[in-house]
Amino acid sequence: MINSVGVVRKEAENCNCLQEQCRLSFRFNILFDCSFFVSGSFKVDSVEAKKKEENFRETLRDMANSKYEYVKSFELEDEVMLPNLMVVRIDGRDFSRFSQVHEFEKPNDETALNLMNSCSAAVLEEFPDIIFAYGYSDEYSFVFKKTSRFYQRRASKILSLVASFFAAVYVTKWKEFFPQRKLLYAPSFSSKVVSCASAEVLQAYLAWRQQDCHANNQYDTCFWMLVKSGKSVSETQEILKDTQKQQKNELLFQKFGINYKTLPELFRQGSCLFKKKVEETVKHDENGNPVKRLRRKAVFVHSENIAGRSFWNEQPSLYNDLGHFTKDIGKIEPDFIRSFQFENKLLPLTWVVVRIDGCHFHSGCSRGV
Ligand code: GTP
Ligand code: MG
Repeated sequence: MINSVGVVRKEAENCNCLQEQCRLSFRFNILFDCSFFVSGSFKVDSVEAKKKEENFRETLRDMANSKYEYVKSFELEDEVMLPNLMVVRIDGRDFSRFSQVHEFEKPNDETALNLMNSCSAAVLEEFPDIIFAYGYSDEYSFVFKKTSRFYQRRASKILSLVASFFAAVYVTKWKEFFPQRKLLYAPSFSSKVVSCASAEVLQAYLAWRQQDCHANNQYDTCFWMLVKSGKSVSETQEILKDTQKQQKNELLFQKFGINYKTLPELFRQGSCLFKKKVEETVKHDENGNPVKRLRRKAVFVHSENIAGRSFWNEQPSLYNDLGHFTKDIGKIEPDFIRSFQFENKLLPLTWVVVRIDGCHFHSGCSRGV
C-alpha cells in the first residue's frame, strides 16, 4: 500500500498537464487521500483522518461534477466550419503489396477497380450527405454537400466512419468480384478530411486528383509494357526518368503500337459517381406498356475533365449542392496543393490511444438473434 501511495504521489507531483483531474487534485491537496483510493482498505480511525476522508469524498463529488468538462478535453476541436466543403479521401494502405499478394493485373486490374467502385456506391448509399465521389487505383474522394451537419462536421469522426465502412464493404464484396480467389488478408484504408473553402478550391482539388490519375496511369502503362518486353526494372526506370507526357505517348505508340487515348476510360480518367435523374420502368399498365418515372439514382460517369465547367455545370445535383464552377482552371495553385497535402500529426512524446466504437452496432447484433 505504501508503494502505491508513493507512486500516485510521485506521478501527481511530476504531472504538469492541465487536465481537470490533476488541477483538482492539486487544489484539494488529495495526495494523502489517494492512498485510500488506491488501497481501498485504508482504516480511518482518528478524527483527523475522518475529516480527511470527508474532504476526499467532497473532492470526488466535485470531480464527478466536472466530469463532463474533463471528458470534453479528450475530444478534438476539429469541426470543419461552414462554409467549407468537406472532402474525405481514402487511400489503400500499402496497396502495392495487397495487389501483388492477390495477383492483380498490371498496371490495372479491371475487376479490382470495379470492386473499388462498387464499395464507393455502397458508401454513397450509406451516407446520403455525400453528393459526389471520384476515384482511381486504390483511392476515392467523397464530397459532402455544403450544408451537411453530419456528425456535427467533426473531421475525426467522419473520416473514420467512411474508411471503416469502405474497408468492411470491400471484404464483404470480395467473393462477388473474385469468386475463384481467396482474400488472404483484409485491406485497410487511411483517410483524411480535406476542407475546401469554396467551390473554386474543390474544383482545384478534383483537377489535382484527376491529373494524378492520368500521370500515374501513363507512367505505369509505359513501365509495365517495357518490363513485359524484357527490360529490367532499373533499365525501365532509367528510360522513363524525366520524360514528359508527350514522350510517353510516343514511346507507347512507336514501341508497342498503343494509342494511349484509346485505352479504357476507367484506367485513364478514373470514375465519378453521383446522383442523376434517370428514367426507370416502375410498372406496366393494363396494355403491357411500361410506366416510367424519373428517379434520382447514383450512376458512374467517366469524363476527361471532372473539374471542367462543361462537365460540372451540366449536372444539377452537383451545382445545387456544391456550387457552380465559374471558370475553367489551367495550372493548379501550388498553395492549394500544399493545403490538400497537409497532414495532421499528433504531438510528439504523448501517449497515443486509439478507441474504436461500433457504429449502429445494435442493429448488427439483433439481426443474429
Ligand atoms: P501507401 O498508400 O503510401 O500506403 O502505399 P501504396 O502501396 O498503397 O501506394 P499508392 O497509394 O501510392 O499507390 C497505389 C498502388 O496500388 C499502386 O502503386 C499499385 O502498386 C497498386 N495498385 C492499385 N490498383 C492496382 C491494380 O489495379 N493493379 C495492380 N497490379 N496494382 C494496383
Ligand atoms: Mg495507397
